[in-house]
Amino acid sequence: MIVVSNRLPFVLKRNKDGKLIRKASAGGLVTAVAPVVVNGNGLWVGWPGIHLEDPLESIPESDPNDITPTAGLKSNKVVSVRIDPKIFDSYYNGCCNEIFWPLFHSMPDRATFKGEHWRNYVIANKEFADCTITALKSVVKSDNTTASAGQNIPLIWVHDYHLMLAANWIRQSAEEEGIACKLGFFLHIPFPPWDIFRLFPWSDEILQGMLGCDMVGFHITDYCLNFVDCCQRNLGCRVDRKNLLVEHGGRTVRVRPLPIGIPFDRFVELAEKAPKVLSTTQKIILGVDRLDYTKGLVHRLRAFESLLEKHPEHKENVSLLQIAVPSRTDVKEYQDLKEEMDQLVGRINGRFTTPNWSPIRYIYGAVSQDELAAFYRDSAIGLVTPLRDGMNLVAKEFVACQINTPPGVLIVSPFAGAGETMHEALICNPYEITSAAEIIHRALTMPEDERILRMNYLRRREKLNDVNYWTRSFLAAMGSLVTQDDHDD
Ligand code: UDP
Ligand code: G6P
Repeated sequence: MIVVSNRLPFVLKRNKDGKLIRKASAGGLVTAVAPVVVNGNGLWVGWPGIHLEDPLESIPESDPNDITPTAGLKSNKVVSVRIDPKIFDSYYNGCCNEIFWPLFHSMPDRATFKGEHWRNYVIANKEFADCTITALKSVVKSDNTTASAGQNIPLIWVHDYHLMLAANWIRQSAEEEGIACKLGFFLHIPFPPWDIFRLFPWSDEILQGMLGCDMVGFHITDYCLNFVDCCQRNLGCRVDRKNLLVEHGGRTVRVRPLPIGIPFDRFVELAEKAPKVLSTTQKIILGVDRLDYTKGLVHRLRAFESLLEKHPEHKENVSLLQIAVPSRTDVKEYQDLKEEMDQLVGRINGRFTTPNWSPIRYIYGAVSQDELAAFYRDSAIGLVTPLRDGMNLVAKEFVACQINTPPGVLIVSPFAGAGETMHEALICNPYEITSAAEIIHRALTMPEDERILRMNYLRRREKLNDVNYWTRSFLAAMGSLVTQDDHDD
């Protein structure tokens, strides 16, 4: 399998001697996709996070003490894509982060549509496609029993909104080279309804790019239906909503809900081994997010403030620990959010802090995997309240690490994919600040037996539907070709 994504599971940095070293990347894509490549027999094509002047400079191996999910990823499994820095900036910051991210999260007012960014998106996608074709040729050459024998056809799995055009070029080049391969795409963020999607001036091209695949996967059925709807309304494709099929260019493309999972057992193991890091008698409400406006952090802080106003009994007994991982710091919306958060945390802490207690502990930075597992394990509440989120892996990691008895409580937003499947969590609309505060109060006062019951169900589901299950579901969805039986005549 060849995995293609914008981000590799690590970014390369130079140490003070100028030597390249790996630093772990953050985000749901990396958490989920890393085990696919590390445990399987695959290659990962992606951007290394640095512009390497010397094209022959090789990627270093991981540090022996590295315990991140990609520690086992050998450098010969990585193909790094090199793109001109200016083009990359316009493609990544301009098009991906300033247009697709807000638009696909149904926040079009935050998007800035610029033709220049779109043109560079096209160029960057072509670069990724070319690198993938080179990788594909090397795979086929090194195993001449594969494509030519008609078995073990190479599988190319393209990920996320950065690369919605690449599949079509990969397909065309593979056909020209006479290489048989199958192409799958997975979108890690929501796919918006047609009314939002069509705001993008080049929306037809996006659909045509994605339809270059044999199968297109999304987290949940709603996103699949949105996509099918857009294909019909934008491109006039014949579609089958019941069986989630789209006809385009003489081919039938499958659309499938493939809810992503986490490496559940790995998180349990981390939670079992991680030393205690929270030395406190207070109950901890935990938030873990990239610092991103989709995560609802401002609303969350306001809900916590409302809790302290309405239920003063929690003062000095409860703290909110918010980890905010720096993200996309070149983009203004993210810089503004950082400012807003700094001010809000300061204001709320200024208002309620006593000599022995601060209501909010705010960490602006990434935390180690050990620390993260300990936070998940030792917190009373996992507070996952995005305004919109494709899935949200933090919700799943929190329940995996809840190994103490009695366990804590998960609160999740209905606007995250996780809110669709994690039924035993408390569901909380982040926009309703006062009712969100009441839900936090309910979680803090929930009887032990109810907590145990809810957490048992949540853990059982996430263990079954872990990341290996997700990969198997993807392979199954790719495995069989579309037959006439798939159609709902
Ligand atoms: N995470 C991380 N470093 C940190 C804190 C969190 O890599 O310091 C991981 C976290 O474990 C989770 C991912 O970042 O796997 C966040 O995924 P999620 O789906 O919740 O949101 P995304 O960042 O993809 O929008
Ligand atoms: C989300 C996206 C990923 C992305 C991650 C981190 O999870 O779905 O594709 O890698 O955020 O964002 P970044 O811009 O740092 O790659």
